[in-house]
Amino acid sequence: MKADVDPNVIVYFGGQYMPMHEANIGILTHALHYGTGVFEGIRAYWDAGEQELFVMRPRDHYVRWKQNGGILHIDVPLTAEQLCDITVELAQRNAFRTDLYIRPLAYKCAERIGVALDEQDAFFIVALPFGEYLHSENGLHAGVSSWRRIDDNAIPARAKICGAYANSALASDEARRSGFDEAILLNESGHVTEGATCNLFMRRKGQLITPAVTENVLEGITRDSIMELAARELGLEIQERPIDRSELYVCDELFLTGTAVGLAPVTRIDHHAVADGAIGAVTRSLRQLYVDATHGRMPAYRKWLLPVYRGAQPAERNEALKKETSLA
Ligand SMILES: Cc1ncc(COP(=O)(O)O)c(C=O)c1O
Repeated sequence: MKADVDPNVIVYFGGQYMPMHEANIGILTHALHYGTGVFEGIRAYWDAGEQELFVMRPRDHYVRWKQNGGILHIDVPLTAEQLCDITVELAQRNAFRTDLYIRPLAYKCAERIGVALDEQDAFFIVALPFGEYLHSENGLHAGVSSWRRIDDNAIPARAKICGAYANSALASDEARRSGFDEAILLNESGHVTEGATCNLFMRRKGQLITPAVTENVLEGITRDSIMELAARELGLEIQERPIDRSELYVCDELFLTGTAVGLAPVTRIDHHAVADGAIGAVTRSLRQLYVDATHGRMPAYRKWLLPVYRGAQPAERNEALKKETSLA
């Protein structure tokens, strides 16, 4: 997150809407010590033409969040639909008319020492203005990390568990210190898994290939969207199978997908150019399709989008909501 976050931004915390500077947790909070939280990342895209803010697949994110919370016995006591309503209201109360990143986080909130899990759970949702996460316009240079991806039998990568992100942080930090834009992690059997915060796709011999969800990857929602766009719009065959490290050096195209990064082309990997080093045609087409779909410009994919203002004049609606909000 950016350092210059507005402390007056309205967040949802402890069942209430409040300015972020009033939403605090104690220093003994279980999740802070032991990483016992589960989070989500959701994007909303502002479309200036339509004067509308579209939240991308929020229901799917909330269903995943609730399921993943269950792995750690964390209960989020609201339905996915109720959580979508809160998300819309957060955007409205903040009068956002820009791209957003929405961060729901559910966690073990007991304030005590001791790693055992108990029944004390809490959650919050923060929505913040957010631009590009990785500057990938001209393609990224990715590096295979010396850190291995956490195994499902240690900390499940599919669960988006807070503590598991120490693994991503180590790999991402190493990559940046080594001059790369992003890390690619291998699993213990040496197969390619994903980036530090994104899934990976490779085009090779006419096929679009991505590691299966059993290879210690997050079951990405962007991954799923890209697979649907690739199959329906480009008629591509998609294969989910193990990928060898050296296949990355001989493939035709390579790209990363994720809520934060969108679709980010990789044009160099471990100092090897991917094909001729230019962004490939399929990557370009898919990136454009994804931008169009997420901004409401493709009717067939409106099903993914939850509009925030729904024709209401944003300014009027926000004035009314601001009056109800306990703004300091
Ligand atoms: C490790 C990891 N892999 C993949 C992804 C992409 O998942 P999604 O497309 O659901 O954002 C993320 C980001 O959420 C991630 O943290």
